[in-house]
Amino acid sequence: MTRLASALATIFISLAGLAAYLTPASGEPAGEAAPIFGITLPEGYRDWRLISVAHEEGKLNDLRAILGNDTAIDAFRADQRPFPDGTIIARLAWDYEKLAESEAAFGQAQSYVAVHPKNGVQFMVKDSQKYAATDGWGYAHFNDGKPADAKVHETCHACHQAAKSRDFVFNRYAP
Ligand code: HEC
Repeated sequence: MTRLASALATIFISLAGLAAYLTPASGEPAGEAAPIFGITLPEGYRDWRLISVAHEEGKLNDLRAILGNDTAIDAFRADQRPFPDGTIIARLAWDYEKLAESEAAFGQAQSYVAVHPKNGVQFMVKDSQKYAATDGWGYAHFNDGKPADAKVHETCHACHQAAKSRDFVFNRYAP
């Protein structure tokens, strides 16, 4: 190879590398990683399958959906505990409002439905080696796609101790 050709080849390889770096496979940027556990927003989580739904009262006051990736769904259905590495569980939540059309149809306040997102989106990621210090679970909390601070992430595993007998996961698979 001439020196010019090899210089051009080097430039081409660098540009290809830069393009690959700037364009993640999904076409969407992975975004900032959450502190402590280093988890980024999992790709495609909004399309995951349903584990259960929940309603929080008190200060949280929201409607939520618990979704799982394929590994999580398989483990829930097979009643496999502890959950295998690769399990990811997502917790989405929304504010809710009375549906006017439903009130008109029923003649009384009847249906309350999810409106805008509330209380962030949370994830539990199982990796028994990487997260050995927290019994194999990594935690992440995002508000509008931005990770919450380290202080918030310090609270997760401590509270999830209450579900220790079910591998730190509160929700059951809704039959
Ligand atoms: C004060 C207690 C408490 C804290 C702190 C807490 N959680 Fe939870 N978490 C719960 C409870 C109770 C549930 C079950 C009810 C529900 O679905 O909201 C839950 C549910 C979840 C779920 C669905 C799986 C499951 O266990 O049912 C995920 C994912 C989750 N939490 C992630 C987190 C993350 C990430 C943090 C830290 C940023 C966190 N949690 C902090 C109590 C807590």
